[in-house]
Amino acid sequence: MYIKKINKLVLGTNNQGKVREISKLIPKKIKLYTPSRLNLKSPKETGSSFKENSLIKAKFFSEKTDEICLADDSGLEIDILGKLPGIYSARWAGRKMDFKKAIKKVYREINKKEVDWNKKIKCRFICALTIYWPNKKYYQSEGIIKGKISSAPKGTKGFGYDPIFIPNGYKLTFGEMLFSKKSQIDHRFMAFKKIKKFF
Ligand code: IMP
Repeated sequence: MYIKKINKLVLGTNNQGKVREISKLIPKKIKLYTPSRLNLKSPKETGSSFKENSLIKAKFFSEKTDEICLADDSGLEIDILGKLPGIYSARWAGRKMDFKKAIKKVYREINKKEVDWNKKIKCRFICALTIYWPNKKYYQSEGIIKGKISSAPKGTKGFGYDPIFIPNGYKLTFGEMLFSKKSQIDHRFMAFKKIKKFF
Protein backbone atom coordinates (compact mmCIF):
# COMPACT_ATOMS: atom_id res chain seq x y z
CA MET A 1 0.00 0.00 0.00
CA TYR A 2 1.33 3.47 -0.90
CA ILE A 3 1.34 5.77 2.10
CA LYS A 4 1.58 9.50 1.47
CA LYS A 5 3.74 10.98 4.24
CA ILE A 6 2.27 13.78 6.32
CA ASN A 7 4.25 17.04 6.60
CA LYS A 8 1.72 19.29 8.33
CA LEU A 9 -0.61 18.34 11.16
CA VAL A 10 -3.18 19.88 13.48
CA LEU A 11 -3.08 18.36 16.97
CA GLY A 12 -6.69 17.88 18.04
CA THR A 13 -6.34 18.68 21.74
CA ASN A 14 -6.44 21.69 24.03
CA ASN A 15 -4.76 19.78 26.86
CA GLN A 16 -1.25 21.24 27.27
CA GLY A 17 0.07 18.09 29.00
CA LYS A 18 -0.93 16.07 25.97
CA VAL A 19 0.37 18.65 23.47
CA ARG A 20 3.77 18.42 25.17
CA GLU A 21 3.83 14.63 25.16
CA ILE A 22 2.44 14.15 21.63
CA SER A 23 4.77 16.81 20.14
CA LYS A 24 7.77 14.83 21.34
CA LEU A 25 6.56 11.70 19.55
CA ILE A 26 6.18 13.39 16.17
CA PRO A 27 9.22 13.87 13.91
CA LYS A 28 10.56 17.45 14.06
CA LYS A 29 10.19 17.92 10.28
CA ILE A 30 6.38 17.91 10.61
CA LYS A 31 4.81 21.33 11.14
CA LEU A 32 2.43 21.19 14.10
CA TYR A 33 -0.55 23.40 14.91
CA THR A 34 -2.72 23.32 18.02
CA PRO A 35 -6.40 24.34 18.30
CA SER A 36 -5.61 26.95 20.98
CA ARG A 37 -3.22 28.68 18.54
CA LEU A 38 -6.05 28.64 16.00
CA ASN A 39 -8.59 29.86 18.59
CA LEU A 40 -10.71 26.71 18.35
CA LYS A 41 -12.49 25.15 21.33
CA SER A 42 -12.75 21.35 21.63
CA PRO A 43 -15.99 19.58 20.61
CA LYS A 44 -18.16 17.68 23.12
CA GLU A 45 -16.92 14.13 23.66
CA THR A 46 -20.19 12.29 23.15
CA GLY A 47 -18.74 8.91 22.13
CA SER A 48 -18.93 5.77 24.22
CA SER A 49 -15.34 4.62 23.69
CA PHE A 50 -11.86 6.11 23.44
CA LYS A 51 -11.82 5.37 19.71
CA GLU A 52 -15.17 7.11 19.11
CA ASN A 53 -14.09 10.20 21.05
CA SER A 54 -10.74 10.48 19.27
CA LEU A 55 -12.60 10.27 15.95
CA ILE A 56 -15.03 13.03 17.02
CA LYS A 57 -12.09 15.34 17.85
CA ALA A 58 -9.97 14.51 14.80
CA LYS A 59 -12.93 14.96 12.41
CA PHE A 60 -14.02 18.22 14.08
CA PHE A 61 -10.60 19.89 13.92
CA SER A 62 -9.86 18.58 10.42
CA GLU A 63 -13.16 19.96 9.11
CA LYS A 64 -12.62 23.32 10.86
CA THR A 65 -9.10 23.74 9.48
CA ASP A 66 -9.23 21.72 6.24
CA GLU A 67 -5.98 20.11 7.33
CA ILE A 68 -4.95 16.60 8.40
CA CYS A 69 -5.64 16.23 12.11
CA LEU A 70 -4.34 13.88 14.76
CA ALA A 71 -6.43 13.53 17.91
CA ASP A 72 -6.14 11.25 20.90
CA ASP A 73 -8.53 10.19 23.55
CA SER A 74 -7.13 8.56 26.60
CA GLY A 75 -7.85 7.73 30.18
CA LEU A 76 -7.47 5.42 33.11
CA GLU A 77 -9.61 2.32 33.58
CA ILE A 78 -9.77 0.86 37.09
CA ASP A 79 -11.19 -2.65 37.23
CA ILE A 80 -12.89 -2.52 40.64
CA LEU A 81 -14.60 0.73 39.63
CA GLY A 82 -16.18 -0.99 36.63
CA LYS A 83 -13.50 0.60 34.37
CA LEU A 84 -14.17 4.15 35.60
CA PRO A 85 -13.05 6.89 35.25
CA GLY A 86 -12.33 5.55 31.72
CA ILE A 87 -13.67 7.90 29.06
CA TYR A 88 -14.67 10.26 31.91
CA SER A 89 -11.04 10.67 33.12
CA ALA A 90 -10.86 14.35 32.17
CA ARG A 91 -14.39 15.03 33.44
CA TRP A 92 -13.56 13.72 36.94
CA ALA A 93 -11.18 16.67 37.23
CA GLY A 94 -14.02 19.16 36.73
CA ARG A 95 -14.06 22.30 34.62
CA LYS A 96 -10.87 23.58 36.18
CA MET A 97 -9.06 20.34 35.29
CA ASP A 98 -8.11 19.87 38.93
CA PHE A 99 -6.42 16.47 39.04
CA LYS A 100 -5.88 16.59 42.81
CA LYS A 101 -9.67 16.53 42.98
CA ALA A 102 -9.89 13.69 40.42
CA ILE A 103 -7.31 11.63 42.32
CA LYS A 104 -9.18 12.18 45.61
CA LYS A 105 -12.31 10.91 43.90
CA VAL A 106 -10.45 7.78 42.73
CA TYR A 107 -9.40 6.96 46.32
CA ARG A 108 -12.87 7.79 47.67
CA GLU A 109 -14.54 5.45 45.15
CA ILE A 110 -11.98 2.67 45.71
CA ASN A 111 -12.32 2.90 49.50
CA LYS A 112 -16.11 2.58 49.18
CA LYS A 113 -15.37 -0.95 47.92
CA GLU A 114 -13.55 -1.90 51.15
CA VAL A 115 -10.48 -2.99 49.21
CA ASP A 116 -7.41 -4.68 50.62
CA TRP A 117 -4.52 -2.35 49.67
CA ASN A 118 -2.10 -5.27 50.01
CA LYS A 119 -3.71 -6.68 46.90
CA LYS A 120 -3.16 -5.21 43.45
CA ILE A 121 -5.80 -2.67 42.33
CA LYS A 122 -5.64 -3.47 38.62
CA CYS A 123 -5.92 -0.68 36.09
CA ARG A 124 -4.69 0.43 32.69
CA PHE A 125 -4.10 3.59 30.70
CA ILE A 126 -5.57 3.46 27.21
CA CYS A 127 -4.88 5.78 24.30
CA ALA A 128 -6.83 5.84 21.04
CA LEU A 129 -5.45 7.87 18.15
CA THR A 130 -7.22 8.98 14.99
CA ILE A 131 -5.64 10.61 11.97
CA TYR A 132 -8.35 12.28 9.90
CA TRP A 133 -7.77 13.61 6.37
CA PRO A 134 -9.79 16.40 4.70
CA ASN A 135 -11.03 13.78 2.17
CA LYS A 136 -12.85 12.13 5.15
CA LYS A 137 -10.58 9.08 5.28
CA TYR A 138 -9.29 8.16 8.70
CA TYR A 139 -6.99 5.71 10.45
CA GLN A 140 -7.15 4.60 14.09
CA SER A 141 -4.87 2.85 16.54
CA GLU A 142 -4.97 1.97 20.23
CA GLY A 143 -2.25 1.53 22.87
CA ILE A 144 -2.51 0.11 26.38
CA ILE A 145 -0.28 -0.02 29.43
CA LYS A 146 -1.33 -2.17 32.38
CA GLY A 147 -0.56 -1.40 35.98
CA LYS A 148 -1.86 -0.90 39.50
CA ILE A 149 -3.06 2.01 41.62
CA SER A 150 -0.49 3.24 44.14
CA SER A 151 -1.67 3.19 47.77
CA ALA A 152 -0.91 6.95 47.84
CA PRO A 153 -0.14 9.58 45.16
CA LYS A 154 3.61 9.88 44.55
CA GLY A 155 5.76 12.18 42.43
CA THR A 156 5.29 15.54 40.80
CA LYS A 157 6.30 14.72 37.22
CA GLY A 158 3.84 14.21 34.40
CA PHE A 159 0.17 15.18 34.49
CA GLY A 160 -3.32 13.89 35.22
CA TYR A 161 -3.37 10.54 37.00
CA ASP A 162 0.41 9.97 36.72
CA PRO A 163 1.04 10.13 40.52
CA ILE A 164 -1.25 7.16 41.22
CA PHE A 165 -0.31 4.79 38.37
CA ILE A 166 2.42 2.16 38.78
CA PRO A 167 3.08 0.31 35.51
CA ASN A 168 3.52 -3.48 35.74
CA GLY A 169 7.16 -4.43 36.21
CA TYR A 170 8.07 -1.11 37.90
CA LYS A 171 8.07 0.24 41.47
CA LEU A 172 7.73 3.93 40.61
CA THR A 173 4.53 5.77 39.71
CA PHE A 174 4.46 7.65 36.39
CA GLY A 175 4.61 10.78 38.55
CA GLU A 176 8.02 9.72 39.87
CA MET A 177 9.36 8.37 36.58
CA LEU A 178 11.49 10.43 34.22
CA PHE A 179 9.54 11.52 31.16
CA SER A 180 12.22 9.91 28.97
CA LYS A 181 11.30 6.55 30.56
CA LYS A 182 7.51 7.01 30.69
CA SER A 183 7.38 8.08 27.06
CA GLN A 184 9.04 4.83 25.95
CA ILE A 185 6.54 2.51 27.57
CA ASP A 186 3.21 4.29 27.91
CA HIS A 187 -0.14 3.89 26.15
CA ARG A 188 0.46 6.89 23.90
CA PHE A 189 3.81 5.51 22.71
CA MET A 190 2.21 2.10 22.02
CA ALA A 191 -0.56 3.72 19.96
CA PHE A 192 1.98 5.92 18.14
CA LYS A 193 4.08 2.95 17.09
CA LYS A 194 1.12 1.82 15.00
CA ILE A 195 0.75 5.12 13.09
CA LYS A 196 4.47 5.86 12.60
CA LYS A 197 4.23 4.80 8.96
CA PHE A 198 2.37 8.03 8.12
CA PHE A 199 5.24 10.28 9.29
P1 IMP B 1 -9.20 13.33 27.14
O1 IMP B 1 -8.50 12.31 26.29
O2 IMP B 1 -8.94 14.72 26.69
O3 IMP B 1 -10.64 12.99 27.35
O4 IMP B 1 -8.51 13.30 28.56
C1 IMP B 1 -8.05 12.12 29.12
C2 IMP B 1 -7.60 12.32 30.53
O5 IMP B 1 -7.03 11.08 30.95
C3 IMP B 1 -6.50 13.34 30.71
O6 IMP B 1 -6.98 14.62 31.01
C4 IMP B 1 -5.74 12.77 31.90
O7 IMP B 1 -6.33 13.12 33.07
C5 IMP B 1 -5.91 11.28 31.74
N1 IMP B 1 -4.70 10.75 31.10
C6 IMP B 1 -4.55 10.35 29.82
N2 IMP B 1 -3.28 10.00 29.59
C7 IMP B 1 -2.62 10.17 30.75
C8 IMP B 1 -1.26 9.99 31.12
O8 IMP B 1 -0.37 9.60 30.34
N3 IMP B 1 -0.98 10.30 32.39
C9 IMP B 1 -1.89 10.75 33.28
N4 IMP B 1 -3.15 10.96 32.98
C10 IMP B 1 -3.52 10.66 31.71
